[in-house]
Amino acid sequence: MNAKTKKRIDDFGYKTVKRNTLEAEVVDRSKAVITHYLNNFGKKEAKYFEEAAFSAIKSYSIDSEDGDMPNSVVEEALQQYLFEVHDVPFPTPQNPQFTFIDLFAGIGGFRVAMQNLGGKCVFTSEWDKEAKKTYRANFGEVPFGDITKEETKRFIPDGFDILCGGFPCQAFSIAGRRGGFEDTRGTLFFDVAEIIKRKMPKAFFLENVKGLASHDKGKTLSTILNVLRSDLGYYVPEPQIVNAKNFGVPQNRERIYIVGFRADLGIDEFKYPEPLGKKVSFSDIKEEKTVGTRYYLSTKYLQTLYNHKARHESKGNGFGYNIVKDDEIANAIVVGGMGRERNLVIDNRITDFKPETKIQGEVNREGIRKMTPREWARLQGFPNKFIIPVADASAYKQFGNSVAVPAIQATALEILKKINFLKNVEGK
Ligand SMILES: C[S@@+](CC[C@H](N)C(=O)[O-])C[C@H]1O[C@@H](n2cnc3c(N)ncnc32)[C@H](O)[C@@H]1O
Repeated sequence: MNAKTKKRIDDFGYKTVKRNTLEAEVVDRSKAVITHYLNNFGKKEAKYFEEAAFSAIKSYSIDSEDGDMPNSVVEEALQQYLFEVHDVPFPTPQNPQFTFIDLFAGIGGFRVAMQNLGGKCVFTSEWDKEAKKTYRANFGEVPFGDITKEETKRFIPDGFDILCGGFPCQAFSIAGRRGGFEDTRGTLFFDVAEIIKRKMPKAFFLENVKGLASHDKGKTLSTILNVLRSDLGYYVPEPQIVNAKNFGVPQNRERIYIVGFRADLGIDEFKYPEPLGKKVSFSDIKEEKTVGTRYYLSTKYLQTLYNHKARHESKGNGFGYNIVKDDEIANAIVVGGMGRERNLVIDNRITDFKPETKIQGEVNREGIRKMTPREWARLQGFPNKFIIPVADASAYKQFGNSVAVPAIQATALEILKKINFLKNVEGK
């Protein structure tokens, strides 16, 4: 069978479905169930997805009106999709050293790092449609959706080793209370804590914006730590602000990392990784070839930025565009606002100044351009084989929201050393 005649997961559901009342959410969950089942095929975790995967196939199959398809036929139908989950840049390892779950997965920054260390992801959740696209293109798995819903949580397997997640930061209203588990109800941290409580993984690794430390005068972080330490009983060392630039990427990105170990492991100390001391700069991640004129600023827009800056600087305000020289490092990449203008670069390799689109005027002669999505990927330490299947606007958002893979990996290695999965991991 060649790739063209093979059944694809996208043929599943929308095209073959007979009942047009089925909602997209159900179809998406079916795709999550099927890809998770196939990625865990032959492993004990497969049983968490098996029943739902079989019934999804039965209810959507064009060959079966009444759902009495024999299991052997269902198995065969599922096998048709196997090539899709394996034929990706970052396939699930077959002989993993440990298992983890990937919550608020985004495009899988944690997953790249954990797989590099020999880990196997047994469950993933992310509700953004575009991020799911990128995730699937790279890992062959469709994430489950809203993690606050029981119909998502019920698929999380027991017995995984590490819970990973960069959950969005929200305030808790704990006025007059001790700031315990129940006080965090209604926030995404509550869902993280609840999953830890139910599943009791050996360790967790949470990532968040640096501002979490000072959020609500420090009350948000102290509530989080109180829940993890007192209510869930984990050993949680002081969280650490980690800067991506110390781990081999030219980006000044500070994030707070919170790790914890289950009490019965007897771990009572943890050291975050030391900076590598390796000097890197933008030139190390710059596009090898000339990039399209759409990344170059028009003469007019550049002039607007210059004028604006001059006006604001004369009043003593900084104004947000910045040019990163080849031997410098980038500012933290962020989503929205002037995010891209904060990291302009000079690239004189351009020879054609004609605009790519009508709305864009002639491009500037100074060679000032925005970084490309691939450069943002590299700033976060994503390998070049990482596929970017979405439009630029989504790609910038996804990389801006993601994690710096090498900093995550260096920290995860320290976690693994503590929980003794190191035999085959060291030196990777
Ligand atoms: C800061 S980003 C994490 C990015 C991720 N660590 C990565 O490497 O790309 C937080 C993610 O949580 C997702 N999210 C927020 N609320 C969610 C929910 N209730 N269920 C599932 N995903 C959610 C957002 O769509 C976003 O992609």
